[in-house]
Parts: sequence; structure tokens; C-alpha cells
Amino acid sequence: MRNESPTPSHDQDEDDFLCSVREGLRQQPKTIPPKYFYDAHGSHLFDLICTTPEYYPTRTETAILERHGEEMARMIDTSCTLIELGSGSATKTPLILQHLAKDAVYVPIDICEPHLLNSTQRLQAMFPALKMQPLCADYHQLPRHALKRQAGKRQVVFFPGSTIGNCTPDEAVTLLKRVATLVGPSGGLLIGVDAKKSIETLNAAYNDAAGHTAAFNINLLNRMQSELGAHLDADQFAHHAYYNDEHGRIEMHLVSQCEQAIKLNGESFEFAEGETIHTENSYKYSAQEFKQLARTAGWHLQSTWHDDNELFNVHYLSQTAAEPLKLAR
Ligand code: AVJ
Repeated sequence: MRNESPTPSHDQDEDDFLCSVREGLRQQPKTIPPKYFYDAHGSHLFDLICTTPEYYPTRTETAILERHGEEMARMIDTSCTLIELGSGSATKTPLILQHLAKDAVYVPIDICEPHLLNSTQRLQAMFPALKMQPLCADYHQLPRHALKRQAGKRQVVFFPGSTIGNCTPDEAVTLLKRVATLVGPSGGLLIGVDAKKSIETLNAAYNDAAGHTAAFNINLLNRMQSELGAHLDADQFAHHAYYNDEHGRIEMHLVSQCEQAIKLNGESFEFAEGETIHTENSYKYSAQEFKQLARTAGWHLQSTWHDDNELFNVHYLSQTAAEPLKLAR
């Protein structure tokens, strides 16, 4: 739907949201996809989550990129075209861009145009010599030839933040295959993936004491009220997040605190007390598990960087088993 025009209109966004919520609430169990967390307020709440002591992924990945960014840049090719999926505010990107050559190209892709243009402007001011080509699109729906290949330039996708964790393993394989098609046989992938670890650490990360994660989850209900005119009582839903060991994922839910109904567009969605809306999965992969998953999608793991406690991994993958010899230019 969205990729018909490069800049999705606001109405179309609202249609998507309405359709997704309606379809999701008709399902059993009820679900709403996590991409709808990120309106302006939700994005702000996510930034707050990232500053809490419990939410380790952001600062851990940042530390890994600070420490190893130069080596990563060398491995991916300092003269590459770097394509960032869901670039958002692109806070970690400078840690790679600062090590790229002047003839490198940066292509940030994000669904939110204001975010995209703001962050591109900020990065362009930091790196005036780099060519930047922002693309407003949903990276899940990128057409095959969305990117013009530049002769002699290696295309590398940068996908930090463990966003891949929102996909089921099957969906992740599909996305990784699509990325492979996008960058072509000589392309690469630099991806941040949250690791498996103690259940206590995982549960704490999604139940911060300041309550930002709870507010982030509840904000979905506020959005339904303000944007879709849904009738509901947000106070009668509670944030619930826990690690599901069997599936290797954090699950976030909104738990109905009583028997109640959400009314939306003339339709009534009934809730029993304790019934939930499943709002997010966040899969965790050991380095070995991710290597296997990526192999299924045609990628070969070349290198993995992690912090001392192995809380988080940044993987570099290519489509050929061994990196081709770099000839002097
Ligand atoms: C942005 C999907 C990586 O799963 O940890 C943070 C989103 N949800 N706290 C994650 C999130 C609740 C985050 N990702």
C-alpha cells in the first residue's frame, strides 16, 4: 500500500493503523503490531526507556560501536553505500559514518518523514563531505529496485537496535532474504541483535522502575482514542512484560483489569478480566542461533562483536562465504 508514493500521507497512516487495530482485536488472542508504538509521544517514551538503568541494549550496543566502529567500517568497506533500515533519529550512525571514506554514500530509510529529514540534516552537518540520499519508505515493503546501485560501490545494510527481534524467526528469515536481494551478491549486513541472558535481567529491562516502558505500552491505547476515536478506558489496562523462555522472547501485553469492551468504528471488542492484547515480541538470540538463522536466509557470518558481559551482539554478514581479497585501488 505504502510504497506507491514515496511519502505516505497522514490519512494513509491512519487507515493502516485503523485496519491493523481492527484486524488485531478480532483475532484470538488479540494483538496489535509494535510498529504503532512510535507516534511522536511513543518515540519520546522510547528515548526515555533507553536512558533507564534497566534497559541495557541501547547503551551496550553504543559502547560496542564506539569500541569497534573503526574495524567494522574497514570490514564493510569504507567506500560503501551504507543503507540504514528504520533509521529514526539515527543516534548510533555517526559511530560508523565517522570511519567511512569521503566517497561513501549514506541512505537512511524511515517511514516517518519528519524524523528522516531531521536526522539526515543533523548527520549532513556532522559529515558535510558524505553524500546522503534519504528514502521515506516502509523497509518491510521496499520494492526490489528501490535503490539505484552505484557502479563499483558495495551496498551494506546497517540495522542496529535489535529491531529484528520484533520479527518472529520466520519473518526474520524473510526480511534477511529481502535484504540480500536489496544489496545484491556482493553486499553486506551489519546488524545489532540482543542476546539471551538471565531472565531477571531481561524482565527488568522491560519493567523499568520509572515506568517508561509501561507508559510506552499504554500509549498505544491513548493513540487509539485520540487518532481513531476508540472508546476505551486506558486506566483499566495494565502493562505486563515477561520473558517467555520457551519461545526465547520478551512478550509485552496490555492486560484487561476487568470485564470490559473497546468500541471502535461501530464494532465492540469484548474483554474478559485478565484477557490481554499482545503488543510486542522481542526475540533474543545467542550468537550461534543468529548465525544459523542468517544462514537459512543465505548469509555467512563474518564477524561478531560484543560487550564483556555478552549482553548484545553486533554481527557482520556477507553473501559470499569468504570475503573476496581486497585489491589495492
Ligand atoms: C526497538 C524493538 C529493539 O524490543 O527492546 C523497548 C522496543 N519495547 N522496550 C526492544 C522496546 C519495550 C525494542 N526494540
